[in-house]
Amino acid sequence: MSVMFSSSPPAAAEPGASEALIAFLDLASAIDAVRSAKACGFEMLRMQAGEHLLDIGCGPGTDALALAKQAALLGGRVTGVDLNPAMIAAANRRAAGLRLPLVFLQADIHALPFGDAHFDAVRIDRVLHFLSDPRKALMEAMRVTVPGGRIVVTEPDWSTLEVSGGLSDLTATVLRAGISRDGAACIGARLDRLLMECGLQLMAHRQTQLSLGDFRSAVVLFGLEGVARTAVQAGALGPRDAARWLRSLQQAGERDELNVTLKGAIASGLRLAG
Ligand SMILES: C[S@@+](CC[C@H](N)C(=O)[O-])C[C@H]1O[C@@H](n2cnc3c(N)ncnc32)[C@H](O)[C@@H]1O
Repeated sequence: MSVMFSSSPPAAAEPGASEALIAFLDLASAIDAVRSAKACGFEMLRMQAGEHLLDIGCGPGTDALALAKQAALLGGRVTGVDLNPAMIAAANRRAAGLRLPLVFLQADIHALPFGDAHFDAVRIDRVLHFLSDPRKALMEAMRVTVPGGRIVVTEPDWSTLEVSGGLSDLTATVLRAGISRDGAACIGARLDRLLMECGLQLMAHRQTQLSLGDFRSAVVLFGLEGVARTAVQAGALGPRDAARWLRSLQQAGERDELNVTLKGAIASGLRLAG
């Protein structure tokens, strides 16, 4: 099975970044392919009656709200956490008045403010690829999951980013120098291994793929301006060539010849007893 999802948000430290990040996440959540990837992840949670779910890195709460609607029908509840207080404020605004079994808290995945075995299922959607030690973060998510509970993780593999339709020589240069292959950037390629190394029993694994042909959406969702900037900072090309590259992608989009693709994975694991 192949499903799709998106990734690269603006860096949270930039001025006005929280609003831009929320707009980015709303744009991503509205794309059919992203919605079907999220639906796939929801199914992999295998929510049952009366269960308490945790959504880590919940952003402005779109997914936690959808899960809380399902949980409400089953007598369950949902907690969403995010490191960024602006996300929690937005999530609380969106949940206000809906009377759903849902709470949002600001928290860091590395130090969750919950006791051991607090949740029946935990979801982590595109958070680990930002972290320097995703294994440590996953272990903390496991700590708050009951033995027998499920953890579902969705992550991209940035080494798979492909861009076609623009100036191919410049594309090769920009992607070679502008995409990080270090740390957790390629974690989507080894998600199943990571879950198993942390002691989870692998339950399911799905490949994901997001392909976009619209220039503006591709620039925003794949952070192409940032990729070009990184390549310039690395000295791989000059700013003029970077601008020429982006223009060539825009023109390819106008000719319906642009295709930008990113692959990744969704994996679910069972926390074993003991
Ligand atoms: C790509 S966004 C995904 C948001 C949401 N899961 C969605 O699909 O709309 C990643 C989120 O992880 C949050 N995040 C990043 N580092 C985190 C950490 N250490 N602990 C908790 N959340 C974190 C960010 O603030 C951001 O809202």
